[in-house]
Amino acid sequence: MIYRKLDEFQQGFLWGSASAAYQVEGAWNEDGKGPSVWDKYVRIPGTTYKNTNGDVAVDHYHRYKEDVALMAEMGLKAYRFSIAWSRIYPEGNGQVNEKGLEFYDNLINELIAHKIEPIITIYHWDVPQGLQDQYGGWESRRIIDDFNEYCITLYKRFGDRVKYWVTLNEQNVFITHGYERELHPPKVRDRKRMYQANHNASLASAKAIASFRKYVPDGKIGPSFAFSPIYPHSPKPEDVLAAENAEELTNYWWLDVYVWGEYPKIAWKLLEKEGVAPTIEPGDIEILKAGKPDFMGINYYRTTTVEVNPLDGVGDVQMNNSGKKGTTADSGIPGAFKTKRNEFLEATNWDWEIDPQGLRVGMRRISNRYKLPMLITENGLGEFDKLEENDVINDDYRIEYLKKHIEACQGAITDGVELIGYCTWSFTDLLSWLNGYQKRYGFVYVDRDENDEKELRRIKKKSFEWYSNVIKSNGQQL
Ligand code: BG6
Repeated sequence: MIYRKLDEFQQGFLWGSASAAYQVEGAWNEDGKGPSVWDKYVRIPGTTYKNTNGDVAVDHYHRYKEDVALMAEMGLKAYRFSIAWSRIYPEGNGQVNEKGLEFYDNLINELIAHKIEPIITIYHWDVPQGLQDQYGGWESRRIIDDFNEYCITLYKRFGDRVKYWVTLNEQNVFITHGYERELHPPKVRDRKRMYQANHNASLASAKAIASFRKYVPDGKIGPSFAFSPIYPHSPKPEDVLAAENAEELTNYWWLDVYVWGEYPKIAWKLLEKEGVAPTIEPGDIEILKAGKPDFMGINYYRTTTVEVNPLDGVGDVQMNNSGKKGTTADSGIPGAFKTKRNEFLEATNWDWEIDPQGLRVGMRRISNRYKLPMLITENGLGEFDKLEENDVINDDYRIEYLKKHIEACQGAITDGVELIGYCTWSFTDLLSWLNGYQKRYGFVYVDRDENDEKELRRIKKKSFEWYSNVIKSNGQQL
């Protein structure tokens, strides 16, 4: 749709920014924190870019006051952060660590004192190593109750002050990377195990939402999903069919379960045929249906363009984790779809295609299909930044990226999408899991690199001032 005038962002719109515990906190073994699977995984040589880890990360654990002061200076309205499960339960279950709760109490109070709405992500990929050792983490149904207990502990402690909650961050990413692609812990390649672990995670998320209703009745909760809307590479009917396959297998497989408590039919039949569909126990569907979210959290970075893939076609994923453009290979599911570079889109140095309209397309699809409000829980540009003389970082490319995506949000709002907020990824620079520290996302540069933590100085980039004005003008001044 092309309009003469776009609708405005609603009053009280949550102009925010986001992070995750492992990527910013550091203090990996302080104040009683137990290890998570990531603390162990990063110590296996060759798993991350230049073997980087989050032991210190950007030291947010010790510098949260300085970071919150910068957020306040910018005028940020909301800050989405995650809680490290093994700070609260060092073993994942059993004994609670009061010191862990205190850290997040302090962070939340600091945010509120600066009029910044806290948004808690309950789980951002760092399952406690204790649970991995006890029963294989997400592969066991025992995790459903342990996760629920952990959630209830958080609801009771923080629910009085925190009204926006995210259950699982990118279940589709941590499950596929962890159990199909050997890119994340526990580094497994087994689709049967993957779909079972995924089913357990869906049950855990749904149960946590059901508990939320009791403990935080005036709050809002939802998952955050890594949404990459699918385009067919051409109007050839085979490619259109491939795009439908991809949409079901890579998006609706999760989204339908979150909202309707049901798996999409065509994808289910395929997985059953292949002998990899999860085992559904009596009562599971009721649990899933009872855990309907209040909003859909969307992490959006790019769209995916696909074409037909023969039965002996490509399967595996080869990712670009070095920032050397053009090193990503096409991937897919033989017989279903394969990815194809979209020639109409520019890509980043990590080969992520830049597609602001894709955000609008995706929001419209979700809004039409599920009739839920949306919260953009992540959107941002990972790039090399250059620290110039006099502490200047001219990240005009980031400004351009964000501007276009915010415009796309406004377009979607005008189309009728209900959008409650927009969180950029990220506020400060942080550890980019597999890509080290050189892939930067923040408004605030953190002076460290892969080899040297230096002094972890915080330096405002050009985009800092720019986003501050966007917030002040409620999105009118881009
Ligand atoms: C999302 C995650 O996948 O995208 C973040 O929720 C992550 O934790 C972000 O950092 C960007 O991905 P990457 O791989 O560039 O760090």
